[in-house]
Amino acid sequence: MKIAIIGKGNVGQALAGGLSKAGHEIRFGTKEPKEPVKEAAEWAEVIILAVPWTVHKDVANALGTAVDGKAVVDVSNILTSSFELALGFTTSGAEELQKLLPKSHIVKAFNTVFAQNMKTGRLGGERLAAFVACDDDGSKKAVQKLAEDIGFEAVDAGTLKSARYLEPMGMINITLGYGLKMGTGIGLRLVKGE
Ligand SMILES: NC(=O)c1ccc[n+]([C@@H]2O[C@H](COP(=O)([O-])OP(=O)(O)OC[C@H]3O[C@@H](n4cnc5c(N)ncnc54)[C@H](OP(=O)(O)O)[C@@H]3O)[C@@H](O)[C@H]2O)c1
Repeated sequence: MKIAIIGKGNVGQALAGGLSKAGHEIRFGTKEPKEPVKEAAEWAEVIILAVPWTVHKDVANALGTAVDGKAVVDVSNILTSSFELALGFTTSGAEELQKLLPKSHIVKAFNTVFAQNMKTGRLGGERLAAFVACDDDGSKKAVQKLAEDIGFEAVDAGTLKSARYLEPMGMINITLGYGLKMGTGIGLRLVKGE
C-alpha cells in the first residue's frame, strides 16, 4: 500500500522501517518544505499520524480534505506535560481527532507499543498485540493487515470508542517502562484460552 507517515520521530521512523520491509511504499509528511504533509496524504491510501496529540489540530488543518474517505491512523498517547492522561471516560484523543477530520476514518492503533518494538512487532520471539479500533470496518481491516505485515498480532478492539480504553493501556505501558524502570523492552499481548 501507499502509506503517508506524518512525523519522522521515533514512531514515524520505526513504523516506516517495519512497513517498508514488508513491501509497502512510504512517503513522509513533515514540517520541511520538501516533504509537505498534504501532498503525502494526497498520494497515500493510508495516513499514519506519528505526531504528539497536542499538534493534531495543526496537522488536521494542514491535511485538509486530502484524507477524506481514507484511513488515518492515530498512534498517540494523550499525555499532559506532567505525563498524566489528559482525556478519558466520555471521549478520547482519537474521537477528538475524528471530529477534526470528520470525513476520514480514524483508526486507533499502536499506542500501546513502545516505538523500539514497532519495527518488528515482536519481542523475545513473541508477537505483540496491535489493538486496532475504528468505526469503519474496511479501514480497520486494512490497518490490521498492516500490523500483521510488520509482525504484530492484530486484535480487533471494536469501534473508535475503544480508544477510551486503549489510551489508558498506553499509559500503563509508559508507567511500567519508564515510571517503574522496566525499560522499553516490554510489551503487551492478548492470551486466548481454548
Ligand atoms: N515513543 C514511543 O514509544 C511511543 C509509543 C506509542 C505511541 N507514541 C505516540 O506517537 C507519537 C509520536 O511519538 P514519538 O515518540 O515518535 O515523538 P517524536 O520522536 O518527538 O516525533 C514526533 C514527530 O512529530 C513531528 N511533528 C510535530 N509537529 C508536527 C507538525 N505540525 N507537522 C508535522 N510533523 C510534526 C516532529 O517534528 P519536529 O521534531 O520537527 O518537531 C517529530 O518528527 C506521539 O503521539 C506519542 O504519544 C509514542
